[in-house]
Amino acid sequence: MAQLWGGRFTKPTDQKVYDFNASIGFDKRMLFQDVCGSIAHARMLGKQGIISDSDAASIEEGLKGIYSDVLSGKLEISHEYEDVHSFCESVLTERIGDAGKRLHTGRSRNDQVALDMRLYTRGAVCTCDGLLNELLKTILDVMKSNIDTFMPGFTHLQKAQPVTLAHHMGAYFEMIRRDRLRLRSIYERMNECPLGSGALAGTTYPLDRDYVAQTLGFDRPTANSMDSVSDRDYLIEFLDALSIIMMHLSRSCEEIITWNTNEYRFVEIDDTYSTGSSIMPQKKNPDIAELVRGKTGRVYGSLMGLLTVMKGLPLAYNKDMQEDKEGAFDAMDTALSCIDLYNGMLKSMTFNKDIMERSALGGFTNATDAADYLVVKGVPFRDAHSYVGKMVLFCIEKKISIDEMSLDDLKTICPVIGEDFYETVSLKTCVDKRLTKGAPGPDAMKLEIESSEKFISDYGVLNDPIESFLEK
Ligand code: ARG
Repeated sequence: MAQLWGGRFTKPTDQKVYDFNASIGFDKRMLFQDVCGSIAHARMLGKQGIISDSDAASIEEGLKGIYSDVLSGKLEISHEYEDVHSFCESVLTERIGDAGKRLHTGRSRNDQVALDMRLYTRGAVCTCDGLLNELLKTILDVMKSNIDTFMPGFTHLQKAQPVTLAHHMGAYFEMIRRDRLRLRSIYERMNECPLGSGALAGTTYPLDRDYVAQTLGFDRPTANSMDSVSDRDYLIEFLDALSIIMMHLSRSCEEIITWNTNEYRFVEIDDTYSTGSSIMPQKKNPDIAELVRGKTGRVYGSLMGLLTVMKGLPLAYNKDMQEDKEGAFDAMDTALSCIDLYNGMLKSMTFNKDIMERSALGGFTNATDAADYLVVKGVPFRDAHSYVGKMVLFCIEKKISIDEMSLDDLKTICPVIGEDFYETVSLKTCVDKRLTKGAPGPDAMKLEIESSEKFISDYGVLNDPIESFLEK
């Protein structure tokens, strides 16, 4: 047991209580953020004359040493400490003496942990943005090479109207693009520095909170010290964004799993992204897509978990808030690896274009276009709808498609039909003529691709402002 408090206690903490209370097992992953935050605090204390410049310098050097020793394996983050903050301060004091004991001047673990968690989350928001940007590039590549790849578009999982693979993937481009916009707005709201809020009511030391905020790449210090130590909104917002991202990936994975079945065979998942069965030698399973779909649940779970932790908390800090970490870290690890794996799977996947096109030819995906043909010939839409319904019935019976009907048979159903009907209901015409903004027709699609490309090149990727903080 190594803790930062104990002066007012006459008996040691029960070991079980100590273990229950400790967070080092999971907050040790915030070592980097804790060290950066403490260095910024120490520099400020020195600058303000609250501690001496030489103490500030030896604190900074000592903390950098701790970080590099942990990285190199020379120093282990021992679970005998209560949390990562106690670990850093205790080892620092062992190494540099009294100066180490001055580091916590004007600071509480409440604003310290609020800072560390915010820095960690901000870093994860940036990593997530970078991964999504890579994914957008992969999706765009698929779009660009599949403007003419016909496939059925579905509603109710029934073939509805013909689209192209470019158009279908363009829908996912839009989802991921919105995910990135969401991350950007979360980043902007969360980028305020809570350090200097103390336990809850600020401090009597002349801290320079603007300096600390700026040093750590924040836009400004937070406005209210009670809110600062008890706010986890930014984390909830990020978990929400991750949940939506997972929902998007999961929808696509569900399609990939379906498209990969023997019945569809629209896609072939690469061997490097598939797995086999221990008993059935013929099997090649879409495990990665299934796992992404399955892991969506635990990301949602973390969001629900944290919302529930926060809902009954009176101001300001309560120990319940230590429960923000495990679920959030798990959600971040899960979602970030899912984006990466999904991207790799998509990049290496083969689309069976012929099979997709054949599938678009069947299933009467051109029935709406057949009705529209009749409308152009002067038939009211409702009647046209009914005539085409009759054609479909006829075709089902004869096991043929609408464009395989003879002109005589067509005329028997509706006399206005002429030779030009066949051209109108051909798959190519059906797609080519869909030129409204956002539709699958090649000219509309080219515009969509252009603006998608422009988004990727113009919308810079978020970078973690403290990524190289310790190298300075
Ligand atoms: N491990 C704690 C947490 O995650 C650090 C803050 C402790 N503060 C306190 N007042 N006990 O929230």
